[in-house]
Amino acid sequence: MGLYKLYKLDISVTTGIALIDGQHNELFENFNNVFKALALAKETQEMLLILEAMDACVKHHLSTEEDLMLKNNYSKYAPHKNAHIRFLENIVAIKEQTKRNGVTSNLAQMVKETIGDWFLDHIRIMDMQYVPFLKDKV
Ligand SMILES: [Fe+2]
Repeated sequence: MGLYKLYKLDISVTTGIALIDGQHNELFENFNNVFKALALAKETQEMLLILEAMDACVKHHLSTEEDLMLKNNYSKYAPHKNAHIRFLENIVAIKEQTKRNGVTSNLAQMVKETIGDWFLDHIRIMDMQYVPFLKDKV
């Protein structure tokens, strides 16, 4: 594909919690579907469907994490929840951008920075912080 490297569950983003890793892997597949659609310059309507599927997968995953943190009284729940809210806002912005301007190179850059790369950083920093706390409880 050339333009974008696809996301995958490598060692730097593996938590060792099977439930979480499985969901992260599914999310990466959804991100990759968006990148493939961008590379193929799909129609706006088709792109919106792919973004909706990604959004549903993200929401399901974030609520799984939040439920686990809440149920186990994780002390860093509030900042983590705030990060999730920011991520959902990024997705809203991507969908609005797509509706407004269609599938553009600017959209591709936004998706890379505010979805794919953002989420990699989120796993490496914030998710990894709950691993020692949650790993024996899931
Ligand atoms: Fe998270």
